[in-house]
Amino acid sequence: MRMRNTNNPISLLASSILLAIVATTFISVSVRADDPYRFFTWNVTYGDIWPLGVKQQGILINGQFPGPQIEAVTNDNLIINVYNSLNEPFLISWNGIQQRRNSFEDGVYGTTCPIPPGGNFTYILQVKDQIGTYYYFPSLGFHKAAGGFGGIRVLSRPMIPVPFPPPAADYTLLIGDWFKANHTDLRYILDSGRTLGFPDGLLINGRGWNGNTFTVDPGRTYRFRISNVGLTTSLNIRFQGHTMKLVEVEGSHTMQSVYSSLDVHLGQSYSVLVTADQPAFDYSIVVSTRFTNTILSTSAVLHYSNSGGKAPGGLPGGPTIQIDWSLNQARSIRWNLTASGPRPNPQGSYHYGLVPTAKTIRLANSAPVINGKQRYAVNSVSFTPADTPLKLADYFKIGGVFSVGSISDNPTFGGGYLATSVMRVNYRDYIEIVFENYEDTVQSWHIDGYQFWVVGMDGGQWSSASRNNYNLRDAVARYTVQVYPKSWSAIYMPLDNVGMWNVRSEDWVRQYLGQQFYLQVYTTSTSWRDEYPIPRNALLCGRASGRHTRPLRV
Ligand SMILES: *[C@@H]1O[C@H](CO)[C@@H](O)[C@H](O)[C@H]1NC(C)=O
Ligand SMILES: *[C@@H]1O[C@H](CO)[C@@H](O)[C@H](O)[C@H]1NC(C)=O
Ligand SMILES: *[C@@H]1O[C@H](CO)[C@@H](O)[C@H](O)[C@H]1NC(C)=O
Ligand SMILES: *[C@@H]1O[C@H](CO)[C@@H](O)[C@H](O)[C@H]1NC(C)=O
Repeated sequence: MRMRNTNNPISLLASSILLAIVATTFISVSVRADDPYRFFTWNVTYGDIWPLGVKQQGILINGQFPGPQIEAVTNDNLIINVYNSLNEPFLISWNGIQQRRNSFEDGVYGTTCPIPPGGNFTYILQVKDQIGTYYYFPSLGFHKAAGGFGGIRVLSRPMIPVPFPPPAADYTLLIGDWFKANHTDLRYILDSGRTLGFPDGLLINGRGWNGNTFTVDPGRTYRFRISNVGLTTSLNIRFQGHTMKLVEVEGSHTMQSVYSSLDVHLGQSYSVLVTADQPAFDYSIVVSTRFTNTILSTSAVLHYSNSGGKAPGGLPGGPTIQIDWSLNQARSIRWNLTASGPRPNPQGSYHYGLVPTAKTIRLANSAPVINGKQRYAVNSVSFTPADTPLKLADYFKIGGVFSVGSISDNPTFGGGYLATSVMRVNYRDYIEIVFENYEDTVQSWHIDGYQFWVVGMDGGQWSSASRNNYNLRDAVARYTVQVYPKSWSAIYMPLDNVGMWNVRSEDWVRQYLGQQFYLQVYTTSTSWRDEYPIPRNALLCGRASGRHTRPLRV
Protein backbone atom coordinates (compact mmCIF):
# COMPACT_ATOMS: atom_id res chain seq x y z
CA MET A 1 0.00 0.00 0.00
CA ARG A 2 1.48 3.31 -1.05
CA MET A 3 0.36 6.30 0.86
CA ARG A 4 -0.49 9.16 -1.40
CA ASN A 5 -0.32 12.79 -0.62
CA THR A 6 -3.87 14.03 -0.60
CA ASN A 7 -5.86 16.74 1.03
CA ASN A 8 -9.13 14.93 0.55
CA PRO A 9 -10.80 12.55 2.93
CA ILE A 10 -10.74 9.08 1.51
CA SER A 11 -13.91 7.21 0.72
CA LEU A 12 -15.70 5.12 3.30
CA LEU A 13 -14.84 1.86 1.59
CA ALA A 14 -11.18 2.73 1.19
CA SER A 15 -11.11 3.94 4.76
CA SER A 16 -12.20 0.61 6.18
CA ILE A 17 -9.54 -1.20 4.13
CA LEU A 18 -6.93 1.33 5.15
CA LEU A 19 -8.02 1.12 8.74
CA ALA A 20 -7.03 -2.52 8.84
CA ILE A 21 -3.67 -1.66 7.33
CA VAL A 22 -3.07 1.27 9.61
CA ALA A 23 -4.16 -0.66 12.68
CA THR A 24 -1.71 -3.45 12.00
CA THR A 25 1.05 -1.11 10.85
CA PHE A 26 0.97 1.32 13.72
CA ILE A 27 -1.27 -0.23 16.36
CA SER A 28 -2.06 3.09 17.85
CA VAL A 29 -5.13 3.20 20.01
CA SER A 30 -5.33 6.88 19.20
CA VAL A 31 -6.96 6.08 15.89
CA ARG A 32 -10.68 5.46 15.99
CA ALA A 33 -12.57 3.35 13.51
CA ASP A 34 -15.40 5.83 13.07
CA ASP A 35 -13.25 8.87 12.41
CA PRO A 36 -11.87 9.53 8.91
CA TYR A 37 -8.21 9.29 7.95
CA ARG A 38 -6.20 11.74 5.95
CA PHE A 39 -2.84 10.62 4.62
CA PHE A 40 0.07 12.88 3.78
CA THR A 41 3.58 12.20 2.58
CA TRP A 42 5.94 15.09 3.10
CA ASN A 43 9.47 15.46 1.80
CA VAL A 44 11.47 18.09 3.68
CA THR A 45 14.27 19.58 1.58
CA TYR A 46 16.43 22.65 1.28
CA GLY A 47 15.56 24.90 -1.64
CA ASP A 48 16.16 28.40 -2.90
CA ILE A 49 13.70 31.07 -1.79
CA TRP A 50 13.74 34.85 -2.33
CA PRO A 51 11.34 36.15 0.33
CA LEU A 52 12.99 39.57 0.67
CA GLY A 53 14.51 39.69 -2.79
CA VAL A 54 17.79 37.98 -1.85
CA LYS A 55 18.36 34.29 -2.42
CA GLN A 56 18.24 32.18 0.72
CA GLN A 57 18.30 28.48 1.45
CA GLY A 58 14.83 27.74 2.78
CA ILE A 59 13.28 24.63 4.28
CA LEU A 60 10.59 23.40 1.90
CA ILE A 61 7.91 20.76 2.32
CA ASN A 62 7.07 19.04 -0.95
CA GLY A 63 8.83 21.93 -2.66
CA GLN A 64 6.66 24.56 -0.98
CA PHE A 65 7.40 27.53 1.27
CA PRO A 66 5.35 27.87 3.41
CA GLY A 67 4.52 24.18 3.55
CA PRO A 68 1.23 22.66 2.37
CA GLN A 69 -1.85 23.52 4.35
CA ILE A 70 -3.57 20.78 6.35
CA GLU A 71 -7.35 20.78 6.10
CA ALA A 72 -9.16 18.59 8.58
CA VAL A 73 -12.47 18.12 10.34
CA THR A 74 -12.85 17.62 14.11
CA ASN A 75 -11.70 14.13 15.18
CA ASP A 76 -9.96 13.32 11.87
CA ASN A 77 -6.91 11.10 12.07
CA LEU A 78 -3.92 12.62 10.30
CA ILE A 79 -1.26 10.18 9.17
CA ILE A 80 1.73 12.24 8.10
CA ASN A 81 4.87 10.49 6.88
CA VAL A 82 7.71 13.01 7.03
CA TYR A 83 10.93 12.29 5.09
CA ASN A 84 13.89 14.33 6.26
CA SER A 85 16.03 15.17 3.23
CA LEU A 86 18.04 17.82 5.11
CA ASN A 87 21.55 17.20 6.38
CA GLU A 88 20.42 17.85 9.97
CA PRO A 89 18.03 16.11 12.40
CA PHE A 90 14.51 17.46 11.99
CA LEU A 91 11.16 17.45 13.83
CA ILE A 92 7.79 19.02 13.18
CA SER A 93 5.51 20.11 16.00
CA TRP A 94 1.82 20.97 15.74
CA ASN A 95 1.01 24.25 17.44
CA GLY A 96 -2.20 23.93 19.44
CA ILE A 97 -3.04 20.36 18.34
CA GLN A 98 -3.58 18.72 21.70
CA GLN A 99 -2.29 15.18 21.05
CA ARG A 100 -4.69 13.94 23.69
CA ARG A 101 -3.15 11.18 25.87
CA ASN A 102 -0.38 11.07 23.29
CA SER A 103 2.50 13.47 23.96
CA PHE A 104 4.77 11.03 22.05
CA GLU A 105 3.49 12.61 18.80
CA ASP A 106 4.10 16.18 19.90
CA GLY A 107 7.24 16.60 17.83
CA VAL A 108 9.36 18.58 20.27
CA TYR A 109 12.71 17.26 21.47
CA GLY A 110 11.38 16.55 24.98
CA THR A 111 8.87 14.04 23.63
CA THR A 112 9.98 12.75 20.25
CA CYS A 113 13.31 11.63 18.77
CA PRO A 114 14.52 13.74 15.83
CA ILE A 115 14.15 12.26 12.35
CA PRO A 116 17.76 11.65 11.26
CA PRO A 117 18.97 12.98 7.89
CA GLY A 118 17.67 10.59 5.23
CA GLY A 119 15.17 9.08 7.67
CA ASN A 120 11.41 9.29 8.00
CA PHE A 121 8.80 9.21 10.72
CA THR A 122 5.04 8.85 10.44
CA TYR A 123 3.13 11.07 12.82
CA ILE A 124 -0.26 9.68 13.86
CA LEU A 125 -2.32 12.59 15.10
CA GLN A 126 -5.95 12.97 15.89
CA VAL A 127 -7.52 16.43 15.99
CA LYS A 128 -9.72 15.16 18.79
CA ASP A 129 -12.43 17.55 19.97
CA GLN A 130 -10.84 20.53 18.28
CA ILE A 131 -11.92 23.18 15.81
CA GLY A 132 -10.16 26.29 14.61
CA THR A 133 -6.87 27.67 13.45
CA TYR A 134 -3.46 26.13 14.09
CA TYR A 135 -0.10 25.79 12.38
CA TYR A 136 2.81 23.41 12.29
CA PHE A 137 6.46 24.39 12.53
CA PRO A 138 9.93 22.80 12.70
CA SER A 139 10.86 22.63 16.37
CA LEU A 140 14.63 21.97 16.36
CA GLY A 141 17.78 23.95 15.72
CA PHE A 142 16.24 27.30 14.79
CA HIS A 143 14.86 25.71 11.59
CA LYS A 144 11.80 27.90 11.94
CA ALA A 145 13.94 30.80 10.67
CA ALA A 146 14.19 28.96 7.32
CA GLY A 147 10.55 27.96 6.81
CA GLY A 148 9.07 24.49 7.26
CA PHE A 149 5.86 25.90 8.72
CA GLY A 150 2.32 25.82 7.37
CA GLY A 151 -1.31 26.33 8.30
CA ILE A 152 -3.71 23.82 9.86
CA ARG A 153 -7.44 24.40 9.84
CA VAL A 154 -9.86 22.15 11.66
CA LEU A 155 -13.44 22.57 10.46
CA SER A 156 -16.55 21.72 12.48
CA ARG A 157 -18.31 18.44 11.75
CA PRO A 158 -21.33 18.91 9.47
CA MET A 159 -23.87 18.48 12.30
CA ILE A 160 -22.30 21.06 14.63
CA PRO A 161 -23.60 24.62 14.26
CA VAL A 162 -21.01 27.29 13.46
CA PRO A 163 -21.99 30.74 14.79
CA PHE A 164 -21.62 32.53 11.44
CA PRO A 165 -22.63 31.76 7.83
CA PRO A 166 -20.15 29.82 5.69
CA PRO A 167 -17.68 32.34 4.22
CA ALA A 168 -17.28 32.71 0.45
CA ALA A 169 -13.65 31.57 0.89
CA ASP A 170 -11.31 30.72 3.72
CA TYR A 171 -7.85 32.31 3.42
CA THR A 172 -4.75 31.71 5.54
CA LEU A 173 -2.34 34.54 6.41
CA LEU A 174 0.88 33.26 7.97
CA ILE A 175 2.52 36.49 9.06
CA GLY A 176 5.92 36.85 10.67
CA ASP A 177 9.21 38.63 10.86
CA TRP A 178 12.15 37.38 8.80
CA PHE A 179 15.93 37.51 8.81
CA LYS A 180 18.07 37.44 5.68
CA ALA A 181 20.71 35.36 7.47
CA ASN A 182 20.09 31.61 7.26
CA HIS A 183 19.21 29.45 10.24
CA THR A 184 22.73 28.04 10.68
CA ASP A 185 24.20 31.54 10.83
CA LEU A 186 21.49 32.72 13.24
CA ARG A 187 22.05 29.66 15.41
CA TYR A 188 25.78 30.32 15.46
CA ILE A 189 25.19 33.89 16.63
CA LEU A 190 22.94 32.68 19.47
CA ASP A 191 25.24 29.81 20.45
CA SER A 192 28.12 32.23 20.77
CA GLY A 193 26.14 34.34 23.22
CA ARG A 194 25.33 37.30 21.00
CA THR A 195 21.92 38.74 20.10
CA LEU A 196 20.28 38.62 16.70
CA GLY A 197 19.40 42.25 16.34
CA PHE A 198 16.34 43.43 14.49
CA PRO A 199 14.67 41.36 11.76
CA ASP A 200 15.14 42.41 8.12
CA GLY A 201 11.51 42.38 7.10
CA LEU A 202 8.04 40.91 7.46
CA LEU A 203 6.46 38.19 5.35
CA ILE A 204 2.90 37.16 4.57
CA ASN A 205 2.72 33.55 3.38
CA GLY A 206 6.44 33.58 2.65
CA ARG A 207 6.41 36.73 0.52
CA GLY A 208 7.19 40.40 0.93
CA TRP A 209 5.42 43.57 -0.29
CA ASN A 210 2.29 42.78 -2.32
CA GLY A 211 3.52 39.25 -2.85
CA ASN A 212 0.03 37.83 -2.25
CA THR A 213 -3.32 38.77 -3.75
CA PHE A 214 -6.61 37.70 -2.19
CA THR A 215 -9.51 38.09 -4.60
CA VAL A 216 -12.97 38.93 -3.26
CA ASP A 217 -16.34 39.35 -4.93
CA PRO A 218 -18.28 42.48 -4.00
CA GLY A 219 -20.78 41.98 -1.21
CA ARG A 220 -19.42 38.63 -0.05
CA THR A 221 -17.79 37.76 3.27
CA TYR A 222 -14.42 36.01 3.67
CA ARG A 223 -12.67 34.28 6.51
CA PHE A 224 -9.02 35.14 7.08
CA ARG A 225 -7.04 32.89 9.44
CA ILE A 226 -4.11 34.88 10.77
CA SER A 227 -1.18 33.27 12.62
CA ASN A 228 2.04 34.94 13.76
CA VAL A 229 4.65 32.34 12.78
CA GLY A 230 7.53 34.78 13.20
CA LEU A 231 10.55 34.64 15.47
CA THR A 232 10.79 37.78 17.59
CA THR A 233 8.07 40.41 17.13
CA SER A 234 4.43 41.04 17.95
CA LEU A 235 2.51 42.23 14.90
CA ASN A 236 -0.58 44.27 14.07
CA ILE A 237 -2.80 43.63 11.04
CA ARG A 238 -5.43 45.78 9.34
CA PHE A 239 -7.40 45.87 6.10
CA GLN A 240 -7.42 49.24 4.33
CA GLY A 241 -10.96 50.65 4.25
CA HIS A 242 -12.44 47.53 5.90
CA THR A 243 -13.16 46.22 9.37
CA MET A 244 -12.57 42.74 10.75
CA LYS A 245 -15.16 40.79 12.69
CA LEU A 246 -13.36 38.48 15.11
CA VAL A 247 -14.96 35.00 15.14
CA GLU A 248 -12.38 32.55 16.42
CA VAL A 249 -9.28 32.56 18.62
CA GLU A 250 -7.13 29.41 18.82
CA GLY A 251 -10.00 26.94 18.79
CA SER A 252 -12.68 29.03 20.53
CA HIS A 253 -15.59 30.89 18.98
CA THR A 254 -15.56 34.48 20.25
CA MET A 255 -18.12 37.23 20.68
CA GLN A 256 -18.13 38.70 17.21
CA SER A 257 -16.67 42.13 17.93
CA VAL A 258 -15.51 44.43 15.15
CA TYR A 259 -11.93 45.72 15.02
CA SER A 260 -10.15 48.09 12.68
CA SER A 261 -6.79 46.55 13.57
CA LEU A 262 -5.71 43.52 15.56
CA ASP A 263 -2.58 42.68 17.53
CA VAL A 264 -1.23 39.19 16.90
CA HIS A 265 1.51 38.21 19.31
CA LEU A 266 4.08 35.49 18.60
CA GLY A 267 2.49 32.09 18.12
CA GLN A 268 -1.09 33.38 18.24
CA SER A 269 -3.89 32.62 15.78
CA TYR A 270 -7.12 34.50 14.99
CA SER A 271 -9.96 34.14 12.48
CA VAL A 272 -11.68 37.28 11.24
CA LEU A 273 -14.50 37.83 8.75
CA VAL A 274 -14.03 40.62 6.21
CA THR A 275 -16.93 41.70 4.01
CA ALA A 276 -16.19 43.20 0.62
CA ASP A 277 -18.57 46.10 1.19
CA GLN A 278 -16.46 48.98 -0.15
CA PRO A 279 -16.10 50.56 -3.61
CA ALA A 280 -14.44 48.10 -6.01
CA PHE A 281 -10.71 48.71 -5.80
CA ASP A 282 -7.51 46.96 -4.77
CA TYR A 283 -6.94 47.51 -1.04
CA SER A 284 -3.90 46.80 1.11
CA ILE A 285 -3.75 44.28 3.92
CA VAL A 286 -1.05 45.81 6.11
CA VAL A 287 1.04 44.05 8.76
CA SER A 288 3.48 45.98 10.97
CA THR A 289 5.62 45.39 14.03
CA ARG A 290 4.41 46.29 17.54
CA PHE A 291 6.43 47.67 20.46
CA THR A 292 9.52 48.29 18.30
CA ASN A 293 11.40 51.55 17.79
CA THR A 294 11.92 50.87 14.12
CA ILE A 295 8.67 49.81 12.50
CA LEU A 296 8.74 47.17 9.82
CA SER A 297 5.70 46.63 7.67
CA THR A 298 4.55 44.65 4.69
CA SER A 299 1.35 44.21 2.76
CA ALA A 300 -0.78 41.94 0.61
CA VAL A 301 -3.51 42.91 -1.83
CA LEU A 302 -7.24 42.59 -1.22
CA HIS A 303 -8.42 42.58 -4.83
CA TYR A 304 -12.08 43.10 -5.72
CA SER A 305 -12.91 40.94 -8.72
CA ASN A 306 -14.39 44.02 -10.43
CA SER A 307 -11.62 46.33 -9.19
CA GLY A 308 -11.17 49.71 -10.81
CA GLY A 309 -7.49 49.89 -9.74
CA LYS A 310 -5.65 50.88 -6.63
CA ALA A 311 -7.79 52.25 -3.81
CA PRO A 312 -7.30 55.97 -3.18
CA GLY A 313 -5.70 57.12 0.06
CA GLY A 314 -2.64 56.03 1.95
CA LEU A 315 -2.00 52.83 3.86
CA PRO A 316 -3.89 52.54 7.14
CA GLY A 317 -1.70 53.36 10.12
CA GLY A 318 -1.70 51.10 13.16
CA PRO A 319 -0.71 51.26 16.80
CA THR A 320 3.02 51.15 17.41
CA ILE A 321 4.28 51.26 20.99
CA GLN A 322 0.97 51.71 22.85
CA ILE A 323 0.61 48.99 25.47
CA ASP A 324 -2.69 50.07 27.03
CA TRP A 325 -4.34 49.93 23.63
CA SER A 326 -3.22 46.34 23.24
CA LEU A 327 -4.21 45.38 26.79
CA ASN A 328 -7.70 46.83 26.28
CA GLN A 329 -8.07 44.99 23.02
CA ALA A 330 -6.99 41.73 24.67
CA ARG A 331 -9.58 42.22 27.41
CA SER A 332 -12.30 42.87 24.83
CA ILE A 333 -11.87 39.38 23.35
CA ARG A 334 -14.60 37.23 24.92
CA TRP A 335 -15.78 33.65 24.61
CA ASN A 336 -19.22 33.25 23.05
CA LEU A 337 -20.91 31.22 25.78
CA THR A 338 -23.86 30.18 23.63
CA ALA A 339 -21.91 29.19 20.51
CA SER A 340 -20.93 25.57 19.95
CA GLY A 341 -17.26 24.64 19.96
CA PRO A 342 -16.16 21.23 18.66
CA ARG A 343 -19.22 19.67 20.27
CA PRO A 344 -22.87 20.64 19.85
CA ASN A 345 -23.26 21.89 23.43
CA PRO A 346 -22.53 25.56 24.11
CA GLN A 347 -18.94 26.46 24.98
CA GLY A 348 -20.19 28.09 28.21
CA SER A 349 -21.71 24.88 29.55
CA TYR A 350 -18.37 24.26 31.27
CA HIS A 351 -18.31 26.85 34.02
CA TYR A 352 -14.56 27.30 34.23
CA GLY A 353 -14.86 30.17 36.70
CA LEU A 354 -16.67 28.11 39.33
CA VAL A 355 -14.15 25.30 39.62
CA PRO A 356 -11.87 25.70 42.66
CA THR A 357 -8.18 25.71 41.81
CA ALA A 358 -5.98 23.13 43.51
CA LYS A 359 -2.75 25.02 43.03
CA THR A 360 -1.16 28.25 41.79
CA ILE A 361 2.01 28.17 39.74
CA ARG A 362 3.82 31.48 39.22
CA LEU A 363 6.28 31.73 36.35
CA ALA A 364 8.65 34.67 35.91
CA ASN A 365 10.78 35.15 32.80
CA SER A 366 14.29 36.57 32.98
CA ALA A 367 17.34 37.14 30.80
CA PRO A 368 20.40 36.03 32.79
CA VAL A 369 23.96 35.84 31.51
CA ILE A 370 25.21 32.33 32.29
CA ASN A 371 28.84 31.28 31.71
CA GLY A 372 29.38 34.57 29.90
CA LYS A 373 26.54 33.98 27.44
CA GLN A 374 23.12 35.55 27.04
CA ARG A 375 20.46 33.05 28.06
CA TYR A 376 16.74 33.25 28.89
CA ALA A 377 15.08 31.58 31.84
CA VAL A 378 11.86 30.90 33.68
CA ASN A 379 11.94 30.86 37.49
CA SER A 380 15.70 31.26 37.09
CA VAL A 381 16.15 28.01 35.15
CA SER A 382 17.42 28.15 31.60
CA PHE A 383 16.40 24.89 29.94
CA THR A 384 19.02 22.65 28.39
CA PRO A 385 17.98 19.56 26.42
CA ALA A 386 18.97 16.14 27.77
CA ASP A 387 20.60 13.41 25.67
CA THR A 388 17.27 11.55 25.50
CA PRO A 389 13.69 12.81 25.00
CA LEU A 390 12.20 13.21 28.47
CA LYS A 391 9.01 11.37 27.56
CA LEU A 392 11.02 8.35 26.41
CA ALA A 393 13.14 8.41 29.57
CA ASP A 394 9.91 8.49 31.54
CA TYR A 395 8.32 5.68 29.53
CA PHE A 396 11.33 3.35 29.66
CA LYS A 397 12.16 4.39 33.24
CA ILE A 398 15.66 5.52 32.33
CA GLY A 399 17.05 7.36 35.34
CA GLY A 400 19.33 10.36 35.34
CA VAL A 401 17.86 12.08 32.28
CA PHE A 402 15.76 14.60 34.17
CA SER A 403 14.63 15.13 37.71
CA VAL A 404 11.16 16.17 38.72
CA GLY A 405 11.14 19.43 40.61
CA SER A 406 14.16 20.79 38.75
CA ILE A 407 12.20 24.02 38.44
CA SER A 408 10.39 25.80 41.24
CA ASP A 409 6.69 26.58 40.93
CA ASN A 410 7.33 30.13 42.20
CA PRO A 411 9.81 32.77 41.04
CA THR A 412 13.09 32.54 42.94
CA PHE A 413 14.50 35.87 41.73
CA GLY A 414 17.94 34.29 42.10
CA GLY A 415 20.71 34.12 39.50
CA GLY A 416 20.03 32.04 36.42
CA TYR A 417 21.36 28.50 35.99
CA LEU A 418 21.13 25.73 33.40
CA ALA A 419 19.05 22.58 33.95
CA THR A 420 16.74 20.15 32.17
CA SER A 421 13.71 21.52 33.95
CA VAL A 422 10.61 19.38 34.56
CA MET A 423 7.70 20.37 36.79
CA ARG A 424 5.30 17.64 37.88
CA VAL A 425 1.60 18.34 38.36
CA ASN A 426 -1.25 15.98 39.13
CA TYR A 427 -3.60 14.64 36.49
CA ARG A 428 -7.15 15.99 37.00
CA ASP A 429 -6.10 18.94 39.17
CA TYR A 430 -7.50 22.30 38.13
CA ILE A 431 -4.76 24.89 38.34
CA GLU A 432 -4.02 28.58 38.08
CA ILE A 433 -0.86 29.74 36.35
CA VAL A 434 0.34 33.32 36.61
CA PHE A 435 2.93 34.51 34.10
CA GLU A 436 4.87 37.38 35.66
CA ASN A 437 6.95 39.62 33.43
CA TYR A 438 9.45 41.86 35.23
CA GLU A 439 11.21 42.71 31.97
CA ASP A 440 10.41 45.58 29.62
CA THR A 441 9.59 43.46 26.56
CA VAL A 442 6.32 41.71 25.72
CA GLN A 443 6.35 37.93 26.26
CA SER A 444 4.29 35.23 24.59
CA TRP A 445 3.75 31.87 26.33
CA HIS A 446 2.43 28.64 24.85
CA ILE A 447 1.50 25.37 26.55
CA ASP A 448 1.42 22.19 24.44
CA GLY A 449 -1.38 19.67 24.95
CA TYR A 450 -3.81 22.23 26.34
CA GLN A 451 -6.17 25.12 25.92
CA PHE A 452 -6.58 27.44 28.91
CA TRP A 453 -8.78 30.32 29.97
CA VAL A 454 -7.07 33.70 30.09
CA VAL A 455 -8.79 34.96 33.24
CA GLY A 456 -6.83 38.17 33.72
CA MET A 457 -3.96 40.40 32.70
CA ASP A 458 -2.76 43.70 34.05
CA GLY A 459 0.22 45.92 34.68
CA GLY A 460 2.27 45.77 37.87
CA GLN A 461 2.86 42.89 40.21
CA TRP A 462 0.31 40.10 40.59
CA SER A 463 -1.01 39.39 44.09
CA SER A 464 -3.87 37.27 45.38
CA ALA A 465 -5.99 40.45 45.37
CA SER A 466 -5.58 40.53 41.57
CA ARG A 467 -8.07 37.66 41.49
CA ASN A 468 -10.85 40.09 42.37
CA ASN A 469 -10.70 41.39 38.82
CA TYR A 470 -10.56 38.04 37.02
CA ASN A 471 -13.06 37.36 34.28
CA LEU A 472 -14.67 34.18 35.60
CA ARG A 473 -17.49 34.19 33.09
CA ASP A 474 -16.54 34.64 29.45
CA ALA A 475 -12.73 34.72 29.15
CA VAL A 476 -11.50 33.13 25.96
CA ALA A 477 -9.96 29.65 25.95
CA ARG A 478 -6.78 29.58 23.89
CA TYR A 479 -3.27 28.11 23.90
CA THR A 480 -0.98 31.16 23.64
CA VAL A 481 -1.04 34.18 25.93
CA GLN A 482 0.90 37.42 25.80
CA VAL A 483 2.34 39.08 28.90
CA TYR A 484 2.90 42.81 28.58
CA PRO A 485 6.07 44.51 29.85
CA LYS A 486 6.14 44.77 33.67
CA SER A 487 2.77 43.01 33.76
CA TRP A 488 1.18 39.65 34.46
CA SER A 489 -1.29 37.30 32.76
CA ALA A 490 -3.25 34.62 34.62
CA ILE A 491 -4.81 31.44 33.25
CA TYR A 492 -6.97 28.59 34.55
CA MET A 493 -6.32 25.13 33.19
CA PRO A 494 -7.83 21.69 33.87
CA LEU A 495 -5.06 19.07 33.84
CA ASP A 496 -7.01 16.58 31.77
CA ASN A 497 -4.25 15.43 29.41
CA VAL A 498 -1.59 13.09 30.80
CA GLY A 499 1.87 13.48 29.29
CA MET A 500 5.04 15.51 29.06
CA TRP A 501 4.15 18.95 27.72
CA ASN A 502 6.38 21.74 26.52
CA VAL A 503 5.75 25.14 28.13
CA ARG A 504 7.65 27.65 26.04
CA SER A 505 8.24 31.19 25.03
CA GLU A 506 7.02 31.77 21.48
CA ASP A 507 9.84 34.28 21.08
CA TRP A 508 12.12 31.92 19.21
CA VAL A 509 15.36 33.42 20.50
CA ARG A 510 14.14 33.02 24.07
CA GLN A 511 12.82 29.52 23.41
CA TYR A 512 16.11 28.48 21.79
CA LEU A 513 18.15 29.96 24.64
CA GLY A 514 16.24 28.29 27.46
CA GLN A 515 12.95 30.05 28.21
CA GLN A 516 10.95 26.82 28.28
CA PHE A 517 10.43 23.73 30.42
CA TYR A 518 8.31 20.59 30.53
CA LEU A 519 5.14 20.13 32.53
CA GLN A 520 4.69 16.48 33.42
CA VAL A 521 0.99 15.83 33.96
CA TYR A 522 1.30 12.80 36.12
CA THR A 523 -0.78 9.84 37.17
CA THR A 524 0.17 6.47 38.61
CA SER A 525 -2.44 4.88 36.34
CA THR A 526 -1.06 2.90 33.43
CA SER A 527 -4.46 2.55 31.78
CA TRP A 528 -4.71 3.38 28.08
CA ARG A 529 -7.78 5.39 29.05
CA ASP A 530 -5.40 7.88 30.64
CA GLU A 531 -2.38 7.69 28.35
CA TYR A 532 -1.63 5.75 25.19
CA PRO A 533 1.42 3.52 25.02
CA ILE A 534 4.41 4.55 22.96
CA PRO A 535 3.63 4.42 19.21
CA ARG A 536 4.95 1.25 17.65
CA ASN A 537 6.88 3.20 15.01
CA ALA A 538 8.45 5.62 17.52
CA LEU A 539 12.06 6.44 16.71
CA LEU A 540 14.39 5.67 19.60
CA CYS A 541 17.48 7.70 20.36
CA GLY A 542 19.91 8.64 23.10
CA ARG A 543 19.68 6.28 26.07
CA ALA A 544 16.40 4.92 24.69
CA SER A 545 18.22 3.45 21.65
CA GLY A 546 17.76 -0.28 21.36
CA ARG A 547 14.69 -0.37 23.60
CA HIS A 548 11.51 -1.89 22.18
CA THR A 549 8.21 -0.19 21.60
CA ARG A 550 5.25 -2.19 22.79
CA PRO A 551 4.46 -5.45 21.03
CA LEU A 552 1.32 -5.68 18.91
CA ARG A 553 -1.84 -5.93 20.98
CA VAL A 554 -5.26 -5.58 19.43
C1 LIG B 1 12.87 14.32 -1.62
O1 LIG B 1 13.27 15.29 -2.55
C2 LIG B 1 14.62 15.14 -2.96
C3 LIG B 1 14.96 16.35 -3.82
O2 LIG B 1 14.01 16.52 -4.81
C4 LIG B 1 14.77 13.84 -3.71
O3 LIG B 1 16.12 13.65 -4.10
C5 LIG B 1 14.34 12.70 -2.79
O4 LIG B 1 14.35 11.47 -3.50
C6 LIG B 1 12.94 12.94 -2.26
N1 LIG B 1 12.65 11.93 -1.25
C7 LIG B 1 11.45 11.34 -1.17
C8 LIG B 1 11.29 10.34 -0.09
O5 LIG B 1 10.54 11.57 -1.96
C1 LIG C 1 24.27 29.61 5.73
O1 LIG C 1 25.11 30.62 5.19
C2 LIG C 1 26.51 30.36 5.40
C3 LIG C 1 27.26 31.54 4.84
O2 LIG C 1 26.87 32.72 5.50
C4 LIG C 1 26.90 29.08 4.70
O3 LIG C 1 28.25 28.77 4.98
C5 LIG C 1 25.99 27.95 5.22
O4 LIG C 1 26.27 26.76 4.48
C6 LIG C 1 24.54 28.30 5.05
N1 LIG C 1 23.70 27.25 5.64
C7 LIG C 1 22.62 26.80 5.06
C8 LIG C 1 21.86 25.72 5.74
O5 LIG C 1 22.22 27.25 4.00
C1 LIG D 1 8.86 5.36 6.96
O1 LIG D 1 8.13 5.17 5.76
C2 LIG D 1 7.77 3.81 5.52
C3 LIG D 1 7.20 3.71 4.12
O2 LIG D 1 5.99 4.40 4.02
C4 LIG D 1 6.83 3.35 6.61
O3 LIG D 1 6.48 1.99 6.41
C5 LIG D 1 7.52 3.50 7.95
O4 LIG D 1 6.62 3.18 8.98
C6 LIG D 1 8.01 4.94 8.14
N1 LIG D 1 8.82 4.99 9.35
C7 LIG D 1 8.36 5.46 10.51
C8 LIG D 1 9.35 5.42 11.62
O5 LIG D 1 7.27 5.92 10.66
C1 LIG E 1 -22.85 33.82 19.82
O1 LIG E 1 -23.19 32.60 19.22
C2 LIG E 1 -24.54 32.52 18.80
C3 LIG E 1 -24.74 31.11 18.29
O2 LIG E 1 -25.06 30.30 19.35
C4 LIG E 1 -24.81 33.53 17.73
O3 LIG E 1 -26.14 33.45 17.32
C5 LIG E 1 -24.50 34.91 18.28
O4 LIG E 1 -24.62 35.85 17.22
C6 LIG E 1 -23.10 34.96 18.84
N1 LIG E 1 -22.95 36.23 19.52
C7 LIG E 1 -21.99 37.10 19.22
C8 LIG E 1 -22.04 38.40 19.92
O5 LIG E 1 -21.11 36.85 18.44
